[in-house]
Amino acid sequence: MRLKGKTALVTGAGGPMGSAIAKRFAQEGASLILTDISQRRLQESVAETEAALTEGARLYSERGSVLVREEAASVVENGTREAGEIDILMNIVGGVRSAQLFEPFLTMSEQRWDETMALNLKGNFHLVQLVAPGMLERKYGRIVNIASIIFAGAEGQVDYGAAKAAVASMTRSLALEFAPHVTVNCMSPATIKTSVIERLSEEEKRQWREKTVLKRFGEREEIASAALFLASDDSSYMTGEIMSVAGGVWPAL
Ligand SMILES: NC(=O)c1ccc[n+]([C@@H]2O[C@H](COP(=O)([O-])OP(=O)(O)OC[C@H]3O[C@@H](n4cnc5c(N)ncnc54)[C@H](O)[C@@H]3O)[C@@H](O)[C@H]2O)c1
Repeated sequence: MRLKGKTALVTGAGGPMGSAIAKRFAQEGASLILTDISQRRLQESVAETEAALTEGARLYSERGSVLVREEAASVVENGTREAGEIDILMNIVGGVRSAQLFEPFLTMSEQRWDETMALNLKGNFHLVQLVAPGMLERKYGRIVNIASIIFAGAEGQVDYGAAKAAVASMTRSLALEFAPHVTVNCMSPATIKTSVIERLSEEEKRQWREKTVLKRFGEREEIASAALFLASDDSSYMTGEIMSVAGGVWPAL
C-alpha cells in the first residue's frame, strides 16, 4: 500500500475525478478528508470511499466551497482533527461553469471570465495557504494541482486555457518556494470521461476521440493512477512538473 499512514485532502471529491482519486487513495491505505460544494455528490463519494478504507484509516467529509476562505479553512481545521495532519493536497476543483463549453473570446462575458478564473485558481490559493504551512513545518508534503492540455491554447476556451496556464505556472513557482521537503506537481488531463465529455455533441465527441493518439477517451481510474503516482513517494524526485494524462492528444499550437 503506497499511502499507508498518510492523510489526503481531496477537493471536488464528489466529481468523477475526485471520487475516483478518493477511492484509489483509500485502497492504498490513506485517511481522507473529502470536500465538495454538492452535498449529494459528496455523500455518494463518501459511501464509495468508506467501503475502500483499510484498517486504521479515517475519513472526514464536509460540504463547502473552496472559493470561500472560511469554508476551506473549516474543512482543513475539522479534517485535520478528525483524519490527521494533511500530507497530501489534491486540488481537483476546476472547469468551466457555463453550459456552453466553447465561447469565442469576442463575445465572452466578463462574468464568465471572472467565474472561470475563480473556479480554477481561487480554491488552490486558499487551500495551499491553509495546508502548506503544516507540511513545511513537518518537512513533508505532496501538493497536486490539475491543469488541462488546453493551457497550450485552444479556440473558444481563452478563459479556461488562461486559467489552467496560471495553475501550471502556480505549480512551478510553488515548487520553488516549498522545496526541498514539499513537492508540487500538476496533472494536465484531456478527454477523460467526465461531465465535460457528456456536454459535447456526438460530432464533437467523435472529433475529440479521433484526436487522441490512443483513439479512445480516458477512464477516471486512469487519472486516479496518475494522481496516486504524484501523491506517493514514487514521484519523490519530481517537483514543478506538468504531467499530461491525455491519451497523447495535444492542441493545435
Ligand atoms: N474531464 C476532463 O477531461 C478534464 C480535462 C482537463 C482538466 N480537467 C480538470 O479536472 C478537474 C476535475 O474535472 P471533472 O470533470 O471531474 O469536474 P466536474 O466538474 O465533473 O467535478 C468537479 C467537482 O467539483 C465540485 N465543485 C465545483 N465547484 C466547487 C467549489 N467551489 N467548491 C468545492 N467543490 C466544487 C463539483 O460539485 C464537482 O463535484 C477540473 O479541474 C477540470 O478542469 C478535466
